[in-house]
Formats: sequence, C-alpha cells, structure tokens
Amino acid sequence: MFKKLMNQNALDMHIVSGFEVKQKAKKFEDQGNKVIHLELGEPDFNTPANITQAGIDALIRGETHYAQPLGILPLKEEISKYVKKYKGVEANPGNVIVTPGAKPILFYTFLTFVKPGDEVIIPNPGFPIYSVLIKYMGAIPIPLRTTEENKFRMTLEDLEPLVTSKTKLIILNSPNNPTGSIIEKKEVEAIAEFLRDKDIIVLSDEIYDRLYYGDEKIISIASIPHMREKTILLDGFSKSYAMTGWRLGYGIMHESIAKVFNPLIVASNSCTNTFIQYAGIEAYKGPQDDVEKMKAEFKARRDLLVGGLNDIPHVSCVLPDGAFYAFPNFKWFGKGSDELSNYILENAYISSLPGSTFGVDLEGYVRFSFATDRVNLNEALNRLESVLKKVKS
Ligand SMILES: Cc1ncc(COP(=O)(O)O)c(C=O)c1O
Repeated sequence: MFKKLMNQNALDMHIVSGFEVKQKAKKFEDQGNKVIHLELGEPDFNTPANITQAGIDALIRGETHYAQPLGILPLKEEISKYVKKYKGVEANPGNVIVTPGAKPILFYTFLTFVKPGDEVIIPNPGFPIYSVLIKYMGAIPIPLRTTEENKFRMTLEDLEPLVTSKTKLIILNSPNNPTGSIIEKKEVEAIAEFLRDKDIIVLSDEIYDRLYYGDEKIISIASIPHMREKTILLDGFSKSYAMTGWRLGYGIMHESIAKVFNPLIVASNSCTNTFIQYAGIEAYKGPQDDVEKMKAEFKARRDLLVGGLNDIPHVSCVLPDGAFYAFPNFKWFGKGSDELSNYILENAYISSLPGSTFGVDLEGYVRFSFATDRVNLNEALNRLESVLKKVKS
C-alpha cells in the first residue's frame, strides 16, 4: 500500500554509500578481522583544537537559541572575506547562506531550479548525491563522461554537445569526488565563455578546493565576473577543517536566489546550529596551520597509495590532483565493480566503494579514500596485491 502512495521517483533511490559499506564491513570486524576502511569520505584527523574550543565557548556562553535562517552575520562576513581571499570571488553577507553541512545547498538548488523533464549535466564519475536528487525531482541527469586518458578532467569539448534547450543546470566539481581531478583554468574560462549568453545556472561544488596538490591555481567559475550571478557556489568546513560531524556548510549566490532559498530553510530546518557557527568563524579567522598540515599529510598518502597501486600488475591509477580519493582501474581482472569491491572486502578486508556508484560505464573501477594513515595504506596495498594474484591465476 505504501508504495502506491509514495512519490514514484523515491522508490528506486539507492546509493551504495560509505555508511552502508561501513556497516557491511562490521560483519567481518565482529568475526575478529581487522578491516582497513577506505570507503569513507571523511578526514581521520580531529577537528583542530582552537575550532573545537570556539564551539565549546559559544555553547557555554549560551549561543543555544535559534539563529537567523540564513546564518549569523559575523560568520557570513568571514565567509565573504574567505571566498574573496581563496577563490577571488566577490561576495557580501547578502550572498551567503549558511547550512547544516554543504549538502542542503544541493537540495535547495534543485528544488528551486529544476522541474520534471529538465536536464542537469553532472560529472561522470561524480558525487552520486547529484543524480539521486535530480531523479527525485523527476528531472534527468545527463552524465558528462570524463576519461582516464584525460585524467578524468572535464572539458568544454565534452560538455558542449550535451547542452540542449532543456539544460537547466550544470554541475562542476573541482577537485572531483571520486577522482580528485580538477578542471583546468583554461577549461573553466572556456566553459564560462560558452555559457555567457545562455540561461543556464552553474552549481560549482568546491568542497575539496583547499585539498589541492598541484601548482597551477584552480579557479572558481564564480570568480569570472559574468558568471558570478549565474553561479551557486557550494563549499563548507567538513573536508578542509575535518569537521564532517559538525555539519557546517554554505552557498554563495545572487541575493535574489538567497531570498528564494530563505523560506525553504525556514520550512526545513529553521537555521543552522547556532554555536557551531561560532566554531566556523574561528576556522576561517584563526591560524590555518592545521589545514596545511592535513593537506601535506594527504599529499604524502596520495603518493604512497597511487604509487603502490600502479606497482601492482594490471592495475592503473591516475594521480588525483586534489581531494582524498584514488579511483583505480581494475578492468583487467574482469569483475564488475560491485563484485570487485565485495571481493576485496571479503578476501582482503579492505572496504571501498564500487566505481559504478559514481555513474555510468564505470565497471572495473573502485574508489579508495586515503583519509586513513600510511600504516593502513601500506597494509592495504600488501593485502590487495596478494588477493589480486588469486583472481586470474
Ligand atoms: C563532492 C561533494 N560535495 C558535497 C559534499 C557534502 O559535504 P557535507 O558533508 O558538508 O554536506 C560532499 C561530501 O562527501 C562531497 O563529496
């Protein structure tokens, strides 16, 4: 009976999430095995102490009441300064919306801009939440396939043929989850030029942009003056400041869009937790040494993991430009990615996410997160090499 009553778009929603795989791994842990967790998209570091302290201080001070729905002014001011400094994006507090984690920005954007039948271009491989929400709206996710040969980087050449009169929104995600690829500056500029006269909104998901290991600066499309008004920029504190469980994120957008998001926020969660917003101020205002230390460690882990994967016969892995994910190719072993991820879990006790979670035509890929220490990564590489030897022998 329930099925008949439900929104039919809701019925075939299923994401193989890190949460689900973690639960699956528990079975092996309960049997006494040491599982190496490479499925989770969250830093293993603790939140820097000064940030935690600012949250505690605010709590003790009594910052425990409702806040303004779009966020407290001092945090919105800090965010405006931050996006100017790190992304070259002009913003004032009227352009900022503070949310519990960055994900609600996706929700509000789709609810506001996407109607049934509209098309939304998404990166493929890409963050699975995009397509789930788009389908929920009755709209159509259009995968922009990036290739291993091009280091999974999105280009205008690949984007252009996908744009139709039904295209409402394009999602950019640089660095990308699950490949860590960036969109090169020249491509961001070319995409911006292509979109100059088009009525298409861009959602620029920049949640990993502080975790970038290259030399050439990555640029936000919102820093290009004519794109500022058409772009909804998504960012937050989860990844760069190791604050996943605090739930603190934000969007930068034209003031008229922020006004439309306001009632959605009031109706859904009223506001973002008040004392946590003070921790966010400290994160942006305080010393940045911890962010830099975490980044240096992620880079060392990336080199270790990706180097080790490429040393395993018949495995290839593109060096990710940013984020903390590797997306190796195991096609030679002839297994689908679900099967492969399960095989690795059951035989090597390494939990991962199957590549197929991240889009279409991704069989044979697996996502490993390197948000775990180097001892674990070394052990994972040893285990992996020995179980893969058994696959085709
Ligand atoms: C690409 C991407 N965007 C957005 C988010 C959402 O981040 P938050 O945890 O702040 O909601 C994530 C989290 O995994 C992500 O990988």
